Amino acid sequence: MKLATYEQIPVTPRGAGTGLSGGCLPLYGGIALSLERMNRILEIDTNNFICVTEPGVIVQTLQEAVEEENLFYPVDPASRASCLIGGNVAENSGGPRAVKYGVTKDFVLGLTAVMPDGEIIKTGGKLYKDVTGYNLTQTLVGSEGTLAIITEILLKLIPLPTLRLVLMIPFPSLEAAATTVSMIMRARIEPSALEFIERDAIIASREQLGTHVDYDDAAAHLMIELDGDNQDLIDERAEKLGEIALEHGALDVLLAETKQKQEELWTIRRSLSEAVKSRSVYKEEDTVVPRDRIPELLKRIKELCARWNISSVCYGHAGDGNIHVNLLKDDLPDEIWNNKLDTMIRELFEIVVDLGGSLTGEHGVGYSQREYISIMKSPVELALMKRIKDAFDPQGLLNPGKIFPTS
Ligand code: LAC
Ligand code: ZN
Repeated sequence: MKLATYEQIPVTPRGAGTGLSGGCLPLYGGIALSLERMNRILEIDTNNFICVTEPGVIVQTLQEAVEEENLFYPVDPASRASCLIGGNVAENSGGPRAVKYGVTKDFVLGLTAVMPDGEIIKTGGKLYKDVTGYNLTQTLVGSEGTLAIITEILLKLIPLPTLRLVLMIPFPSLEAAATTVSMIMRARIEPSALEFIERDAIIASREQLGTHVDYDDAAAHLMIELDGDNQDLIDERAEKLGEIALEHGALDVLLAETKQKQEELWTIRRSLSEAVKSRSVYKEEDTVVPRDRIPELLKRIKELCARWNISSVCYGHAGDGNIHVNLLKDDLPDEIWNNKLDTMIRELFEIVVDLGGSLTGEHGVGYSQREYISIMKSPVELALMKRIKDAFDPQGLLNPGKIFPTS
């Protein structure tokens, strides 16, 4: 980094390249700095429940290593089999288990990072409390590789739950599924995942993986996981959940009790993103609204798509109010698709903001959303963010072209 600063060469840090907002693309050339080979887990501290790791460890590998010690790192993005923990920290990744456990930021206790000029900083520590000065750890989490290069991470771990149950609940309409989401949360059921999946996503996965889901012609499914250590409590919650779902129009309540069946369902869930995108040229948005606005969000997305005559497939982390909206080109001519897309996305984001939401819940602004950020961030807020950027990277060499709009 000292040399890059001296020579004024842009540097774009890169994990596994699985991100969904183009964060790792070296837009201005220069150096694509791969962290892939910094792939050692340095310590699993079973006294303090903390894992010290380099950034290039695959998230699933890290999860499996801590599980050997009966500890749990629950942040579980769909790409966990290939994404790297450093990329997760840079993007503040979420995933299905956020509904119970939180997102990456809730687990990062400290970082070692290299500043653009080559200085090394250490933030936080093996500490569950630390208010000495500004929180630089959390300034770097989710900074999308634009402030510093993360080279070591201290992660909080929690005890590994011993029991899991997965339920698949088909619904005859998007609205019935969406309304049930809030009801489940209000009943204090505490799911460890509460996923919404629209029919076309299930079909895309079937076509890609050859998998089977019962009621695959239902308009939508909720896929719900319960975890914990008390079988009676899980059973009680599953029963209550089933009752609520049936009261709100569910067609059935299907339980996956074996580990194998649960893994099959998770494989389907994790395949959705790629399966849907294999259908057509697409644009994926990562909308997030307060959880109880999900029914309205889905209704307004579908109205918008009908008005623009563009197909959409939605799925996502309904328990977090976080819905991935895939807009599909299908057989629209390039010219029509290209003309429509920008205005339509602006309208989509205006709906999201109107519902008290945000443009991206977990995928980041990166390159693909940068032109839209001013729909929800004021000039004052953007200027403040820019000053933070300048404080870390006064020459603008680190991951240039991301987050901030070009005009
Ligand atoms: C998922 C990715 C797209 O939830 O965030 O599958
Ligand atoms: Zn997601």
